[in-house]
Amino acid sequence: MGKSATVLAIETSCDETGVAVVTGKKSGNRYELTVREHLLHSQIATHKKTGGVVPEVAAREHAVQLPRLLVALSKKIPLAALMQEVDAIAVTAGPGLVTSLLVGVEVTKTIALAWEKPLVPVNHLEGHVYASLLKPNKGERHKQRDFVFPLLVLIVSGGHTELVLMKQHLNYRILGTTRDDAAGEAFDKTAKLLGLPYPGGPALSTLARTGDPTAITFPRPMLKSDNLEFSFSGLKTAVATYLKKQKRINRRDVAASIELAIVDALVGKTIRAVERYRPAGVVIAGGVAANRLLRSELEKALKQTAPKTKFFTPLLAYTTDNGAMIGAAGVIRYLNGTKSQPATLRVNPHLPLK
Ligand SMILES: Nc1ncnc2c1ncn2[C@@H]1O[C@H](COP(=O)(O)OP(=O)(O)OP(=O)(O)O)[C@@H](O)[C@H]1O
Ligand SMILES: [Mg+2]
Repeated sequence: MGKSATVLAIETSCDETGVAVVTGKKSGNRYELTVREHLLHSQIATHKKTGGVVPEVAAREHAVQLPRLLVALSKKIPLAALMQEVDAIAVTAGPGLVTSLLVGVEVTKTIALAWEKPLVPVNHLEGHVYASLLKPNKGERHKQRDFVFPLLVLIVSGGHTELVLMKQHLNYRILGTTRDDAAGEAFDKTAKLLGLPYPGGPALSTLARTGDPTAITFPRPMLKSDNLEFSFSGLKTAVATYLKKQKRINRRDVAASIELAIVDALVGKTIRAVERYRPAGVVIAGGVAANRLLRSELEKALKQTAPKTKFFTPLLAYTTDNGAMIGAAGVIRYLNGTKSQPATLRVNPHLPLK
């Protein structure tokens, strides 16, 4: 018989406020996760006005939205019942924007004290990784979601680009990271140069759909070098130079060429890691994992180089920041004995994945 637990999870690390209730069952080395509730407030409309996230503004909005989401949650599961049901409260403790993180962590401490429940600090990136284990609701079609080890994870988000090897659950070896901008940042910054609204990634990807990805050859830095590192700042400069020099610009072609340059770099290094470490499975995690071209190109490349390698992607709803992914990592951490005290838990904007 396996162990099971339920957590209330809170995410406020950047510009999405998320609250979720997640139940996890552990049998042997496997976890069965169920999202009981999952509420999200996106601050995109606010940050569109400034073309990016202003940390002070994001934190203030979390302070308004988090209590609202908790009230909305209490309408779905009455608080008295929720208090009975949850074993712990999970919260993102880092990495992220310090003032945004503080809102979630301080609110969580208050709930934990009032309910006399343990706190489970969650690494936001671990949340992105475990989002892949979340299944759709009953009745929706889904393929089996189960980690196989060694598992290679490509974390691609607004602030991170990392290739990580997991030999086991909750065990991470960082194989390579970006030397400058993250993949999501590269999407956002080049999209801004094209005059697209924040967040640039989805907007650029939509524009790219009708463009010619071979129209312009933007640089794929580090792709040829024999390591697992990334670099994306040169791409932004190359795009800025191109836009300044050219008299006639086809924005669709530029968008498609940018997208392919980013995807080529990500797929190239992931395949290099697959050849080097021969993982049993590959997973992509983080906001950029929503990118259709990345999903299809990586799947294609894996079929060619390592057809036996299992490949899966998180459900679209759980790729960008949300509370359910923190609940997923939180309940697994809790089932493995991670607990923290309200008096000692501190946020860490640079919390490493380990
Ligand atoms: N379809 C898409 N194509 C490309 N990029 C996308 C797509 N959808 C979202 N993104 C990018 O994903 C990023 C947001 O992802 P996420 O919410 O995981 O990042 P974050 O939380 O800001 O950063 P981190 O997780 O590193 O702290 C943004 O850079 C956004 O442009
Ligand atoms: Mg994130």
